[in-house]
Amino acid sequence: MSYQALLTSLDNGIFTITINRPDKLNAINKTVMDELKLAVEEVYNNPAIRSAIITGAGPKAFIAGADITEFMGLSKEEGMAISKKGHDIFFAIENSPKPFIAAINGFALGGGCELALSCHFMIAAENAKFGQPEVNLGLIPGYGGTQRLVQLVGKGRAIEMLMSGRTITAQEALQIGMVNEVVPAENLLARVTEILTLINSKAPIAIAKVIECVNKFDHSRKGYDHEIEQFGECFATEDMKEGVTAFLEKRKAAFKGN
Ligand code: COA
Repeated sequence: MSYQALLTSLDNGIFTITINRPDKLNAINKTVMDELKLAVEEVYNNPAIRSAIITGAGPKAFIAGADITEFMGLSKEEGMAISKKGHDIFFAIENSPKPFIAAINGFALGGGCELALSCHFMIAAENAKFGQPEVNLGLIPGYGGTQRLVQLVGKGRAIEMLMSGRTITAQEALQIGMVNEVVPAENLLARVTEILTLINSKAPIAIAKVIECVNKFDHSRKGYDHEIEQFGECFATEDMKEGVTAFLEKRKAAFKGN
């Protein structure tokens, strides 16, 4: 399978998916999302694939978020539709019987942080930065961030990140249990490959059952469905239009609360 916005490779059962829009810090546009769906299907369907890595092209970013340029002028229903589409793909990653590790090689913001959260765990380069800056745009996370971040780092840490939009360093992410390890950037893919090589040496059915059982911990989609609704409602606000316009005009947003 060949992709426009992704690079993929398969070595020793490890499938590497690289989001490849480095000039836009690998922001997730419609093409990236559509192709990510196909790449995840490839992981499910290709028996030669034992596990997967998701990473970003270039030295600066894993993924700097959803592509904000595609948000302008969307209605509540359209906002809900992109949220629902992302949820389905990210659920497929989370519930994949084959492990996904996020190799975080720079900014993992907004939808990029949420994609990383949907992977089974994360390994970060020393220059990685994490954040859910949607509130700066008059938005909330729309790809599961309000649910998965709380599960991973606990309510206090998560709600502070979600309300402040603050970006945290790789070291802070390690300290709060968001990432499993921090390694020098040049060793990132080698370290993730080493971890997956160990996991790939185990019984595949047992690995699939570990994932399935761990994910049963909270199987309800209630919180996620509520997130879709609330994400959509943000698109009906003036503040969201102001937030997105301000980003595009490279200025600070002036929010009015409407
Ligand atoms: N959507 C669309 N384009 C994005 C983007 C996004 N989420 N993040 C970065 N880009 C684009 C920039 O607009 C810029 O494009 P240009 O060269 O055509 O102007 C390019 O990627 C490089 O980004 P730039 O902002 O110049 O890099 P920087 O080093 O000064 O800043 C960030 C890096 C990550 C701090 C900054 O890009 C940023 O704040 N991005 C948005 C993060 C965000 O809010 N994500 C959540 C979206 S819901």
